[in-house]
Amino acid sequence: MKRPFLIMAFLLSAMLIFASCEETPNDVNDDKEQSRVLVVYFSCTGTTKRLAEYAADILVAGIHEIVPEVPYTSADLNYSNDDCRANREQNNPSARPAIKNGMENMEKYDVILLGYPIWWGQAPKIIYTFLETYDFSGKTIVPFCTSGSSGIGTSDTNLHALAPGINWMSGRRFSGSETKNGISQWIESLNVNSKNQ
Ligand SMILES: Cc1cc2nc3c(=O)[nH]c(=O)nc-3n(C[C@H](O)[C@H](O)[C@H](O)COP(=O)(O)O)c2cc1C
Repeated sequence: MKRPFLIMAFLLSAMLIFASCEETPNDVNDDKEQSRVLVVYFSCTGTTKRLAEYAADILVAGIHEIVPEVPYTSADLNYSNDDCRANREQNNPSARPAIKNGMENMEKYDVILLGYPIWWGQAPKIIYTFLETYDFSGKTIVPFCTSGSSGIGTSDTNLHALAPGINWMSGRRFSGSETKNGISQWIESLNVNSKNQ
C-alpha cells in the first residue's frame, strides 16, 4: 500500500527539482532584465552587430543598437568618394549625427560594452553623439570595434574625453571573421560578470 505512494512522492519531487533547474526562455529574459551589463553597438553593414550579439548572448546581457536618425545608404558609406557622408562626418570635428532611438534606463547599468566599426581609424561620430547624450558617472565602458584591417589605434582613447572621469577599459579590435569563441575568451579576460556588478 505504501509503495505507490512512495513512488508518486519520488516522481513529484523529481519533477519539482527538474522544473526548478531547467532554464526557460523566461528565466533567460529575467537574467537579461537583472543584468548590470549592457552591450551597445552601432553597425552599418552587420559586422559589429554580429559580434555585439555574441557578447550579449555570452553575458546574458541586454543589447541596444544605436540607430541613426537618418540611415546610412551605401552611397553614404562609399569611402572612396571624399565627399560621401561618412567621410564628411569623420572630417568634421563637430559632426554629431542624430540618434533615432533613446534609452530610458541607462542608470540601470554599471558596465557598457560599446561596439563600433572603424571609420578612418576612428569611431564613427554617432558614437560621440551617444557618449555626449548620457551621464556615465560611476560606470565602466569597454570599447570594441571591427575593421577591415586597421587596429583599434586611438579610436578608443579618443572617446575618453567625451565621458571623462569614468572607468574606461582598454578597447579591443576584432576582424569581421571573429568567432563566438573568440568573443567568449575576450569577455572572460574582462572579468565583468553580468549579474549584480
Ligand atoms: C567610411 C568608412 C571608413 C572605413 N575606414 C576603415 C579604416 O580606416 N580601416 C579599416 O580597416 N577599415 C575601415 N572601414 C571598414 C570597416 O571598419 C569594416 O568594414 C567594419 O567591420 C564594418 O562594420 P559594420 O558592418 O558593423 O558597419 C571603413 C568603412 C567605412 C564605411
